[in-house]
Amino acid sequence: MAATKSTAKKSTTVKKAPVLKEAEKKPPVEVVPGAEPASASAPEPEVQVQPKKKILFVASEAAPFIATGGLAEVIGSLSKAIAKDDAYDVRVIIPLYQDIKKEYRKDFRFIGNIFVPLSWRNQYCGIFEYEKDNVKFYFVDNEYYFKRPGCYGYYDDGERFAFFCRSVMEILSFLNFYPDILHCHDWQAALAALYLKTIYCFRPEYQFIRSVFTIHNIEYQGKYSLDILEDLFGISNRYRYLVEYDRCINLMKGAIECSERFSTVSPTYAGEIKDPYYAHGLDPIIRRNEFKLCGILNGIDTDYYDPKKDKSLFANYDAEDIAGKAVCKEELQRMLNLPVKPDTPVIAMITRLVAHKGLDLVREVIEQVLRQDVQFILLGTGDSAYENYFSDLARRYQGKVVSIISFNSDLSRKIYSGADLFLMPSKSEPCGLSQMIASRYGTVAIVRETGGLRDSIQPYGAGGNGFTFHDYNAYDMLYVINEALGVYRDKEAWKALQKKAMLTDFSWATSAKYYVGLYLGMLK
Ligand code: GLC
Repeated sequence: MAATKSTAKKSTTVKKAPVLKEAEKKPPVEVVPGAEPASASAPEPEVQVQPKKKILFVASEAAPFIATGGLAEVIGSLSKAIAKDDAYDVRVIIPLYQDIKKEYRKDFRFIGNIFVPLSWRNQYCGIFEYEKDNVKFYFVDNEYYFKRPGCYGYYDDGERFAFFCRSVMEILSFLNFYPDILHCHDWQAALAALYLKTIYCFRPEYQFIRSVFTIHNIEYQGKYSLDILEDLFGISNRYRYLVEYDRCINLMKGAIECSERFSTVSPTYAGEIKDPYYAHGLDPIIRRNEFKLCGILNGIDTDYYDPKKDKSLFANYDAEDIAGKAVCKEELQRMLNLPVKPDTPVIAMITRLVAHKGLDLVREVIEQVLRQDVQFILLGTGDSAYENYFSDLARRYQGKVVSIISFNSDLSRKIYSGADLFLMPSKSEPCGLSQMIASRYGTVAIVRETGGLRDSIQPYGAGGNGFTFHDYNAYDMLYVINEALGVYRDKEAWKALQKKAMLTDFSWATSAKYYVGLYLGMLK
């Protein structure tokens, strides 16, 4: 992989991210033994005749039913990609939130109810089922825990997801479905891996279930007071050593300890989380368990994000005939009350407005960018300090800057298609999907070389599909923005770059194989 360093010159470095040495630079998918792609480790004919391998994803959200971020998209699209192969029986289980989209919910089938023990509690658990793209989805119903707006942010989130995970374990026997692989995602599903190893492994039917835990973002670890280990999570104090970290319960740590393997969503991030700069305190645990860690780059659902078919777009186009993109740009400018200027580059950001998205860098130099003939569009919500900053910027630069403080999927697609450049200067980014979506829509990405951004976008100077800078430094970012604006003015070079971005393979085809390889390795 051409992971060349940024060509940025002016370098008044504020805080340096650790520099990866040449030898540490990773291929798109880093593997641990047993995580080779399926084709390399599975003798085809045998797989055909054997019973289907059963895989259960446990997660707190899944697209298209409910989504607050990238996790949901990955759960929805990865399960679909693996289920394309008939050798796998793929199922997904999530809570039945009040906000699950009505259009799907009305077709959910009630398949029964059980009572779930959680320490001294005994709670109702309804089970609903729905099938889509060869994947069976289950929804865990309990109105006390889940009939509330949104998915997270309640005082009792620990209890809610403990109930969810304990329900998952009980539902397996209700369904008489014992997966070969229990694949738990993020801290909300961590307890399923813990329950498996502490409570359920003594039951014969659960004995052969292997678990893998995926970290989508190490920032959110599920930390609670140790006092509630038995009373709330229903885990005996003799297992305290599994979850205890820094004098707290740390559910992510527990899942890492208890799972046969754990993974994260890009090879570079798998390397980064061994480092305190990125690990939010968990680096000693990551390093200790490194032997079972692998990084597999996420893909995107290329049917769902297809500029040729996307109904939200003002016009459709593809890499062979990109003419429609100019229409998208013109209509977007018109819609947002920006001067309709086909030759003025439009730089866009679609992001949660939180610190690790690199917004401080933007704040530092955006006005220098705005001195040039450019337009800047921001779509997102988050911390009020950033919301206010970008609203104010738009007021001061009317006709040049538009800030839309909301989240709107239809509008996001109009921006992905109508912009020229997509800025994503994250301080850390486990994988990031927006840079892939933007590229697929011919909007060239400018990213910081971190996590999945580094694994999906390679620098233009080295023949890559976008623009990159290494240090977390506003002036390095400014330098590559200017480099990008320079290339934009060269119509032929720009067209070729757009095409390259659009033709980069961001589909799940390769990455799903690596997951399957990981599973098969665990089942040997
Ligand atoms: C989290 C990460 C993001 C990643 C997504 C899906 O939201 O922050 O980088 O793309 O999970 O894995």
